[in-house]
Amino acid sequence: MFAERYRNRLLSQKQAGLYRLPPEVAGKEGKHLLFDGRKVLNFASNDYLGLSTSDELRRLVSENFRRYSTSSSSSRLVSGNYAVINQAERAYADFFGYEEALFFPSGYQANLGVLSTLFEKGDTIIFDKHIHASSVKGMVLSGAEFQGYNHNSMVHLRKRLEKGRVGGAAVLTESLFSMDGDFLDIRGFGDLKREYGFFSIIDEAHAFGALGDKGRGLGGGVADVAVGTFGKAFGLFGAFVLLPGALKEYLFNFSSPLIYSTTLPEAHAASALDLLEMIGRCDDGRDNLREISRLMRDGLRREGFHVSGDAHIIALTIGEENKAAAVSKGLLGEDIFVLPARYPTVPMGKAILRISMTALHTEEDVSYFIDGVKKIYGE
Ligand SMILES: Cc1ncc(COP(=O)(O)O)c(C=O)c1O
Repeated sequence: MFAERYRNRLLSQKQAGLYRLPPEVAGKEGKHLLFDGRKVLNFASNDYLGLSTSDELRRLVSENFRRYSTSSSSSRLVSGNYAVINQAERAYADFFGYEEALFFPSGYQANLGVLSTLFEKGDTIIFDKHIHASSVKGMVLSGAEFQGYNHNSMVHLRKRLEKGRVGGAAVLTESLFSMDGDFLDIRGFGDLKREYGFFSIIDEAHAFGALGDKGRGLGGGVADVAVGTFGKAFGLFGAFVLLPGALKEYLFNFSSPLIYSTTLPEAHAASALDLLEMIGRCDDGRDNLREISRLMRDGLRREGFHVSGDAHIIALTIGEENKAAAVSKGLLGEDIFVLPARYPTVPMGKAILRISMTALHTEEDVSYFIDGVKKIYGE
């Protein structure tokens, strides 16, 4: 009975143009991926500063893994609360200007662990309708009542706040949206926060490291809690949550995904410390990233494409799911790797090509990409 259900579901995914199969990648070299014996230009990576293949980071991380054990071998609450992890968390809290920081094995787990624990039945969470799937899951698990507001609409957010006059509401959003690529209206959000006094949680997964002063992101001063991941601009893996005082203690006591999961090893925390120093001196990378992303957006617009995005995530509107998949496939034939984002990642009928820029891309790469899209889109 189960097998038949799974078969039928997969079949309807295929018919709707929504079928997913992760392509096997033979390797990664800077901005290139190795595929089927070919080297293709990668526009689908969140390695925004190109750190994940940098010699310096690879050397530091391998030295850390030589120095420390390969696993923490338990959760933080059992025997995994190593000094170097606490030292790294202290450094992250100080660097980003929060009272506390807490590491998680991934950003997904961080959102799940934080939201499902900080909120409960009887609470109200108001959320931007385009927040990441992990935040949605965390919110659902919490048991709180939740209400969406239209993407980045401060007018709609105000209506939600006004309607409930909810004193104790929490608002969830992102600072750089993962699919649309646009910035949160920070000023409008901050004004509403001052007016209504809500508790704010801002996911800065795509901004930390890549945007703001020394990579400090965009939400400083308006976020009560901020979520960052090491898996994107930091070129590593794992995640960190920045918190007001006392919440770390609270999560240690009540967050099931934290209590019942093996913590990241000491070598990870030591690498996170090295990274903090590296991120601070990546101003050139952040400048390149901003400039090359602008060139890509402007170039695509000049060719008549509809694109959105304020920074290094650029959404090229395609619309129909099968067409988006076909364009992505055609581009792979031109040695360009870029993936379609389709339902349920984005709304049905609003498929996009999600173009991820990195500081390693050059003007020639941008021209090559635009020529490729022009050719394939028209076919
Ligand atoms: C906005 C956002 N939050 C959280 C995550 C999850 O982070 P991680 O990949 O570290 O699990 C992602 C991406 O994957 C994301 O785009």
